[in-house]
Amino acid sequence: MAILVTGGAGYIGSHTCVELLNAGYDIVVVDNLSNSSAESLLRVTELTGKEFEFYPISLNNRPDMEGIFRNHKIEAVIHLAGLKAVGESVSVPLRYYHNNISGSIVLFEIMQEFAVKKIVFSSSATVYGTTEQVPITENTPLGATNAYGRTKLMIEEIMRDLHVSDPTWSIALLRYFNPIGAHESGRLGEDPNGIPNNLMPYITQVAVGGLKELQVYGNDYATTDGTGVRDYIHVVDLAQGHLKALEKVMETTGVEAYNLGTGQGYSVLEMVRTFERVTGRSVPYKITSRRAGDIGVCYSDPTKAERELGWIALKGIDEMCLDSWRWQTGNPRGYLVENEMLANI
Ligand code: WQD
Repeated sequence: MAILVTGGAGYIGSHTCVELLNAGYDIVVVDNLSNSSAESLLRVTELTGKEFEFYPISLNNRPDMEGIFRNHKIEAVIHLAGLKAVGESVSVPLRYYHNNISGSIVLFEIMQEFAVKKIVFSSSATVYGTTEQVPITENTPLGATNAYGRTKLMIEEIMRDLHVSDPTWSIALLRYFNPIGAHESGRLGEDPNGIPNNLMPYITQVAVGGLKELQVYGNDYATTDGTGVRDYIHVVDLAQGHLKALEKVMETTGVEAYNLGTGQGYSVLEMVRTFERVTGRSVPYKITSRRAGDIGVCYSDPTKAERELGWIALKGIDEMCLDSWRWQTGNPRGYLVENEMLANI
C-alpha cells in the first residue's frame, strides 16, 4: 500500500515526502517538474535512506495517471501539485484553471475509478480573500480575489460536492498560511524560479548579495510598524500537519478544512530584524508603495487542527530564519546542480 504524493518534488512536497518516509509510509511521487527539480527527490532519498517510485508526468495525462493506479496499490493521496503564483495567475488565468482544476478533476476521476477515496488537499489561506477579520478561523467567510485563490476555492467546492455524491470520501482541506524555512540539513528548501515573489526567499537572496535590497511593500497598514503582518509557519511543521491529516482521513469519512498556521502574526520589519539578529547578516531595504492585492493583516486561529488532528506548529521564527539561511548559503543556485550549472554557461 502506498501514498500517492502529487507535486512531491516541490517545496512543500519534498518536505512532506521526508516526513512520510521517516514515518514508515511507502510513497509514489508524481510531479511534472514545471516548478520543481528532480534533484529534490534525490535529496529526499539521501535524507531518509529510502527509495520510491517517481513519475515525471502531469495530472492531465490521464493514461499515465491511470497506469500509476494500476501498477501501485494506492491507499490515499496527498494532492499538492498546482501552480501557485498569485501574480502570474492574474496574467495567465487559463493556465491556472487548466493545470490546477482540470488536473485535479482527472485525479479525482481516476481515484473514483480505482475506489481510492482518501485525500489530503493542499489549499491556501488565500481562499479567505481580503478579510480583515483576524484571527482567521475555518468559519471565516471565503472569497478568493485572484485566479490562483479561486482555483483552490473551486477545488475545495468540487471535493465537497464529491463527498455529497458519495459520503464514503474522506477529505482534509489544509489551508496553508505562509510557509517558510527549510529542512534542518540545508539540503531541501524553497527554490523559486527567477526573482522571488515571496518575502523570505527575497530576504535570503538580499542577505547573500544576490539582490540589492528588499522592497518593503508599504508601511501604512494598521499594524505596529505599518508593514504587512503574516502568519509564517515552518515548512517542516506544515509537512507534519499533512501526516496528521493523513492519519485522520485514513480513520474517518467526511470533509473538513484546517488552518495550518502558528496563530502568531509578524510584520515584514519584524521578520527582517529577526533574520538579521539570528544570521548576523544585513538586509538593506527601502519602503515602497503597497503591492496590489495585498492585505494588511493575516494570521490564523489554528486550534481546530490542534483539537481534531492533534497537530500544532512547534518551530518559531528564529528557526525559520536560520533554516532558510542555511538552505540559501548551501545552495546558492537552488537545486541547479554542478553539471547543470556548467551546461548553462
Ligand atoms: C508576505 C508579506 C508582503 C515580498 C502569498 C500567496 C499565498 C501563499 C503564500 C501560495 C506581505 C511582504 C513580500 C517582498 C514585501 N502562496 N513582502 N516585499 O502575499 O502573504 O502570500 O504567498 O499558496 O497564497 O498569496 O506572501 O511572502 O508574498 O508576502 O514587503 O519582496 O511580505 O507585502 O506583507 P503572501 P508574501
